[in-house]
Amino acid sequence: MTSVVLGQLELDEQALVKVLFEQQFQCSAVQVCYAPGRVNLIGDHTDYNDGFVLPAAINYGTSIASAKREDSIVKVYAHDCEQQISEFTLNEIVFDEQMMWSNYVKGTIQALLKKYPDIKGANLVVTGNVPQGAGLSSSASFEIALLKTFALLYQLDLTGVEAALLGQQAENDFVGCNCGIMDQLISAMGQQGHAMLLDCKDLSFEDAPIPDELTLVIINSNVKRGLVGSEYNLRREQCETVAQYFGVTALRDVTLAQLNSAKAQIEPILYKRARHVITENHRAVNTFKALKVNDMMTISETMKASHISLRDDFEVTTKEMDGLVEMIDDVLGDKGGVRMTGGGFGGCVIALVPNDLVTKVNEVVNDKYESEFGLKPSIYLCTATQGAFRSAN
Ligand code: GLA
Repeated sequence: MTSVVLGQLELDEQALVKVLFEQQFQCSAVQVCYAPGRVNLIGDHTDYNDGFVLPAAINYGTSIASAKREDSIVKVYAHDCEQQISEFTLNEIVFDEQMMWSNYVKGTIQALLKKYPDIKGANLVVTGNVPQGAGLSSSASFEIALLKTFALLYQLDLTGVEAALLGQQAENDFVGCNCGIMDQLISAMGQQGHAMLLDCKDLSFEDAPIPDELTLVIINSNVKRGLVGSEYNLRREQCETVAQYFGVTALRDVTLAQLNSAKAQIEPILYKRARHVITENHRAVNTFKALKVNDMMTISETMKASHISLRDDFEVTTKEMDGLVEMIDDVLGDKGGVRMTGGGFGGCVIALVPNDLVTKVNEVVNDKYESEFGLKPSIYLCTATQGAFRSAN
């Protein structure tokens, strides 16, 4: 948890939202809820193809202080945004063209109301430290923190998987991003110290411990990305077109042999998109197995192959991300793994780094990235944390 300076005070974020809540609403918050962002170790652009992903929840997230209201008004103060206050009533939820952040609240509450039509309003104060537009799921952590908030305020019997589906619904139906389920599900159900192999077809999952001798190093290329405005939705459509060709609902159910035997009939660009998804599913499962037995050589290979596939077949990397991967790979060799992470088109790369190479990776990135690409990198050393709906075990 990072600390934040407010006037003369230095506060951690949970304490900060409580103080801000009192300033805004002249009474105490009844609770503070927190949900983490995530990093995906491998398995990108597979979730909306009913495939496999291997994310971990990270120690960056969104905190919300709250109290119930007797009426149907939701009033939100977003500490980190320029236009900070949004207010709306539950029976009139309208998309806001100006204040984009408020649409995550509106979309989430609209989805929640379909399941729980009797909930009433709330006063909310939000702050977070997930870098925005970096591919670390600041929006999913916001949605899941909101759902946890309402679940506790109104004692709703909402499970983590249900919360994840509602968060995804908010993105798909209200915000306009046709994302899959990975980000919301790991934010809700991640386990401390573990990565999660999630089967996006039936939403079953299994955890693998991240070995103590490895550090999760996230490097932000600081090329900002925006999922809604990006080619993300187009990639999804391309995958669906190939699935339709094979008469299945998702690419999960097409094998590489089937794809290859139809190569001549499929547009080359669609062939490449599908080849990425099918091979990435295998890599995600193999990486999970390798993580469980600490087989770094295999992890190194699968992460490298994943990046190349996202670069050449799925075409979602940038030259900055490719450059970062190359310079870090030179340091790690087969002792660690590195690849782009998340939706792509900018954002972050993830490196699984043996503890004794972390300093070297830092030095190389700081020495080379800015001089080659004219942008300052940001480096986050992360730990895998607990999801908002996951009970300690
Ligand atoms: C974004 C989406 C996820 C997933 C990734 C790519 O983070 O929100 O659902 O599709 O991109 O793996």
